[in-house]
Amino acid sequence: MKTRICIIGAGPAGLMLGHLLRSEGVDCVVLERAGPDYVLGRIRAGVLENVTVDIMARLGLDARLRAEGLVHDGFNLAYGERLIRIDIAALTGKHVVVYGQTELTRDLMEAREARGLEVVYEAADVALHDVGSDAPYVTYAKDGRMHRIDCRFIVGCDGFHGPSRKAVAAVAGQAFEKVYPFGWLGILADVPPCNHELIYANHERGFALASMRSETRSRYYVDVPVTEKVEDWPDERIWDELAIRLGPEAAAHIVRGPSIEKSIAPLRSFVFAPMRHGSLLLCGDAAHIVPPTGAKGLNLAASDVLYAAEALLAFFKRGDGDAIIGYSDKALARVWKAERFSWSLTRLMHRFPEDGPFERAMQVAELDYIASSRAAQTAIAENYVGLPV
Ligand code: APR
Ligand code: PHB
Repeated sequence: MKTRICIIGAGPAGLMLGHLLRSEGVDCVVLERAGPDYVLGRIRAGVLENVTVDIMARLGLDARLRAEGLVHDGFNLAYGERLIRIDIAALTGKHVVVYGQTELTRDLMEAREARGLEVVYEAADVALHDVGSDAPYVTYAKDGRMHRIDCRFIVGCDGFHGPSRKAVAAVAGQAFEKVYPFGWLGILADVPPCNHELIYANHERGFALASMRSETRSRYYVDVPVTEKVEDWPDERIWDELAIRLGPEAAAHIVRGPSIEKSIAPLRSFVFAPMRHGSLLLCGDAAHIVPPTGAKGLNLAASDVLYAAEALLAFFKRGDGDAIIGYSDKALARVWKAERFSWSLTRLMHRFPEDGPFERAMQVAELDYIASSRAAQTAIAENYVGLPV
């Protein structure tokens, strides 16, 4: 088979890119290792910046997001008994939209047929070939035989563990990485949220986050050592821990209920540079990971995809290859700033096992400073709503 662009991975990044290309009449094929149910089974952060909402609007796939997404004008940082409200609307004139990543992926998946976006699910052994040349190709196995797709560009949207990044020779790229000594234990439950806005809490027993998917579905997290097992955390233990860490005001409003999902996600900061190698472009988790503290993962994938789509459209519609050459620098400039913000918010809101009294005093001083400074709050707010694309 021949196509202009072969996209590896049908997560949010691959599907957004595929739809953006198709909406401009550029042909592409998306290869996905898993089946549609697996892709929809993953629960991830659900705070959308403008860039993500705008892509869904440009695709005309934002009807449900507009109807069901919750517009949030602020969020809260809790420490001890104190609560700092970051009024993002007043400080930046913007807002974020709380809408589950699973729902956004569903909207993109359901529009495949109507928009003529070809996605091959259950494509096994996907391998990239000749990515340094102008005629790369991809092979995969399906229905008991091997297939080959010849194309002009390959876009790796296959997440952190996919084959695309690994197709770049070790000498051609550099990985920057920080692994954190804790993970987030998340619980999803059909109970009303304890607060109408998110609360990120730094408590002496550890971090906690109160989030939500809707007025009737809550998402909470506590941080735990990476060695911890989900089986050691019956629901009641998580609810007890949340009630302590989120502080008395929030605790009074927590409604407990049985978990409908429970998992531990490790925290990692990771960047692979450059994000283009010859005819291979990397987007989303294939190129970078942020700890979830700033809710930047999906939004960074969205800005990568926007830049990649612009570059590919310039190439195929106007014969202009400059934006392809500039793709990596443009994407990385935004990626590094989001990495910085996610890392600094993680540093501020978690208790690190190696921290001594000095590091703890620095956290308290910084939180006190943020509580009293509009400038500090503005810096947090403008990063949280998303830096310009
Ligand atoms: N072949 C084909 N597809 C693959 C392969 C492979 N060998 N390996 C992985 N994939 C698919 C995965 O099954 C998944 O559907 O690539 C997709 C990658 O999706 P995500 O991991 O969701 O990554 P991305 O689309 O970049 O999303 C970025 O969404 O999932 C979150 O944490 C992520 O918030 C971040 C954002
Ligand atoms: C979530 O709702 O899952 C969520 C929200 C905000 C974050 C991380 C996760 O920073």
